[in-house]
Amino acid sequence: MHIRPIEFDDDATLRQMYDVVTASRAHERPHFVPSSADAVIADLRHDDPGETVLAWGLWEGDVLAGVTTACLTLNDNRDIMWVEVDVDPGHRRRGLGRAAVEHLVAFAREQGRTRLLTDARYPADRADGHPYLRFAESCGFRLAQTEIMRKLDLPVDTALLAEIADEARAAYEPHYRVEAYAVVPEGLRASLCDCMNRVGTDAPTGEIDVEPESMDPERYAGWLTVDAESGRARLTSLAIEQASGDVVAYTELALPAGNSRVHQWGTLVQREHRGHRLGLAVKAANLLALQADHPDRLDVITGNAHDNPWMVSINERLGFRPLELNAAFHRAV
Ligand SMILES: CC(C)(COP(=O)(O)OP(=O)(O)OC[C@H]1O[C@@H](n2cnc3c(N)ncnc32)[C@H](O)[C@@H]1OP(=O)(O)O)[C@@H](O)C(=O)NCCC(=O)NCCS
Repeated sequence: MHIRPIEFDDDATLRQMYDVVTASRAHERPHFVPSSADAVIADLRHDDPGETVLAWGLWEGDVLAGVTTACLTLNDNRDIMWVEVDVDPGHRRRGLGRAAVEHLVAFAREQGRTRLLTDARYPADRADGHPYLRFAESCGFRLAQTEIMRKLDLPVDTALLAEIADEARAAYEPHYRVEAYAVVPEGLRASLCDCMNRVGTDAPTGEIDVEPESMDPERYAGWLTVDAESGRARLTSLAIEQASGDVVAYTELALPAGNSRVHQWGTLVQREHRGHRLGLAVKAANLLALQADHPDRLDVITGNAHDNPWMVSINERLGFRPLELNAAFHRAV
């Protein structure tokens, strides 16, 4: 087996990489709905000034048997390297995964990164001793936190969404207003980015400490260009403080092109604006917009830490039900 970099201008190898990662993620997960190859490749090729993403192929002769990736943020969390390892199910238990981790550790040292973070998804009833957990532990990682992934079948009863929206409105008016956008106007993006940058620090992250992120309007606009080019729709609902005109809460849904699934991305209410049902308000507003504008979508996937009862209770009320676990692992280098 040998490991070599995958260049992002090498279309043929990127498509092989997509096939390997899709086969790996679909293994024993019948509910997995992959994004299209074009969409995944568009994300990989995007040159975001705030992060560097690299990929390496694990080759057995001419066959691409596995893939590993690393993401290095450049303006925050400069001690961390986020990594992924995927081995094609037909090539597992031959040491490829372990070799990939050894490669990543050496690369992290070269880059001066002192922590590796990764995650893996598996069923809750196989949490004890699942192969991915055993792999992670045998490669020196520790389980840092377990999130529960939940699925919401669409459509949600619009009467329930209207009831939730009304209940929230009674708690946040007249100090705030809530708006849903397919594209957030430029004037609101700076305070939206301030909210986005706090998601990693304000949501429970178990044993893992992270710094605020550094998304800014310029980087955000770059990702909107990727959305437009790859056909991904993004729905963003915002709570805006009337007095300042600032975004103080947001939630985002991502709708990859060409499939039926929706992914819940970040949701946050700024600390000093909590307690006014703004989380509930933006979630209900976004689901109402989703159902009105994208009736072809069948379900939404979200993940919450078990020790985030506030977010979990909102999601359960909306109808999200447990699907699988997302286990976060970390390892010092
Ligand atoms: C996890 C994964 C990368 C392992 O790849 P792999 O090439 O099969 O791993 P290796 O052969 O290098 O295994 C290394 C060690 O992990 C443990 N391990 C791996 N698979 C295991 C299994 N099915 N059962 C028990 N232990 C297992 C063993 O300790 C093994 O060492 P050993 O073979 O000497 O006993 C692969 O299953 C995969 O792609 N999973 C899906 C993606 C994922 O979840 N990645 C992140 C995991 S942190």
